[in-house]
Amino acid sequence: MLATLDQQTEAFRRDVLAGLAQYIPAIPARWLYDRRGSELFDAITRLPAYYPTRTETALLHTVMPEIAARIRSGSAVVEFGAGSAAKTPILLEATAPEAYVPVDISGEYLEQSAAEIQRRFPAVGVIPVTADFARPFTLPDAISGLPKLGFFPGSTIGNFVPRSAIDLLRQFRDLLGVGAQLLIGMDRVKPVERLIAAYDDLEGVTAEFNLNLLTRINREIDGTIPIDAFRHEARWNDMLSRIEMHLVATRDVEFMVSGERFRFGQGASIHTENSHKYELRGGRLLLLAGGWTPVSEWTDDGGDFAIVLSEAQPNRFAP
Ligand code: AVJ
Repeated sequence: MLATLDQQTEAFRRDVLAGLAQYIPAIPARWLYDRRGSELFDAITRLPAYYPTRTETALLHTVMPEIAARIRSGSAVVEFGAGSAAKTPILLEATAPEAYVPVDISGEYLEQSAAEIQRRFPAVGVIPVTADFARPFTLPDAISGLPKLGFFPGSTIGNFVPRSAIDLLRQFRDLLGVGAQLLIGMDRVKPVERLIAAYDDLEGVTAEFNLNLLTRINREIDGTIPIDAFRHEARWNDMLSRIEMHLVATRDVEFMVSGERFRFGQGASIHTENSHKYELRGGRLLLLAGGWTPVSEWTDDGGDFAIVLSEAQPNRFAP
């Protein structure tokens, strides 16, 4: 289960070589998060124009008493893609669960933040699991008898195209079991200007975050990409209701990655991330399709961000 650094690098190489050779070049967004990428993302969450983190955190604080009242006592909280686990204390403080299982692909980062949570909440059994939450993995035996609460904040679900998002929600449901609860954050559709401002900030931090992927390719898998031949672009795709991040060639450029040659004409792009935005009904439908029935829902006063509590239902046919 625990992917070694070498396995990670090989997976990265495979994804980049296959992705760059596609008719529409694209690299999966998860590779944006090396050490530097994670630092830059942290910096993004503090930018004035990047509203999601701030809005979700404030909303969680405000509605936590209502959330806590709906959560089974003595639950095991399973957080998918825990990262720095910045929002976790709000939930743990209000619900006092039996156990907390942060799941993250970055083992190093995970051990650190798990130890911090354990210090702060000595009564909670903290059991970190190093795994890619988007692939099947198993939960620790220690929580097998406890009611489960999945926690998936940050609008990370938005990084998956809807059909993959549904697969992921179904996988969470299979993992947590019928009767489990899921608390999920979803970013909402809003005026294009605000969306673009959030993903193409004046400070240039998101640009650096996006371009860091090219630096990572050069460093880890023998790339010769001239970074200055690409620029960051954030586009709103209205048909698919998503922000797309691209790296656009500013001139004709040729480079090597792991011994393979690639050519990009001026204006050609590498698609590096999707961030889907959901209206309330669209978000609910996504959850239902993934096997989760929404039971409570909260949004901030501006309607910028939603937090939805859902329950895993047994398979059944309507009505
Ligand atoms: C952490 C994936 C939710 O999509 O808003 C922020 C990542 N990318 N700025 C998002 C991100 C560019 C972020 N998520």
